[in-house]
Amino acid sequence: MQQTFKLRKFTPDDLQSVMQINRVCLPENYMDFFFMDLHQRFPETFIVAEENGKIVGYIMCRIEVGLASFGLGGLVRKGHVVSIAVLPQGRRKGVAQALMTAAMEGMNYYKAKLCYLEVRVTNDPGVSLYKKLEFEVSRTLNGYYSDGEDAYVMTKKL
Ligand SMILES: CC(C)(COP(=O)(O)OP(=O)(O)OC[C@H]1O[C@@H](n2cnc3c(N)ncnc32)[C@H](O)[C@@H]1OP(=O)(O)O)[C@@H](O)C(=O)NCCC(=O)NCCS
Repeated sequence: MQQTFKLRKFTPDDLQSVMQINRVCLPENYMDFFFMDLHQRFPETFIVAEENGKIVGYIMCRIEVGLASFGLGGLVRKGHVVSIAVLPQGRRKGVAQALMTAAMEGMNYYKAKLCYLEVRVTNDPGVSLYKKLEFEVSRTLNGYYSDGEDAYVMTKKL
């Protein structure tokens, strides 16, 4: 199928569109300065998808330092997917998969050795997306979300 969207880095002009997609798609919403802080610190991993000149999806991430898994040993840089969403009308066209792949390239740029994220245990589209990208469930966080739902931590070696 012909790809109908293109990816590009987030710019400050995209802030309102991205915040709107975040509000429509996810219960975890943030103030404007939170988005701008992630953009300023990690521009390579804050990416938007555009279709017909309109933003239909975004991904934003943070690079952290923490204990390694996968037998990597010691402290490593990790890419943490903070938020990813695609508008309902833009779904099942590979947008999220493309956003994840581009963000993981950005994580490589920052020399991250692995990528991880939290996902609601009932979020079948999300869990399926990450499994397709060869993420594995590394643990479950009980009551992680503010409504009490559990999260899977899913991880992939970069
Ligand atoms: C999860 C989400 C980002 C997926 O976006 P998308 O652009 O539709 O995903 P893609 O088209 O790239 O799908 C890639 C793969 O993910 C899986 N997938 C995506 N949506 C799915 C669904 N509704 N049911 C089952 N599998 C799904 C499939 O394996 C799919 O590959 P396929 O279409 O070849 O079968 C989107 O549904 C969304 O924004 N949901 C609300 C926000 C959210 O849950 N974000 C993640 C929080 S951790």
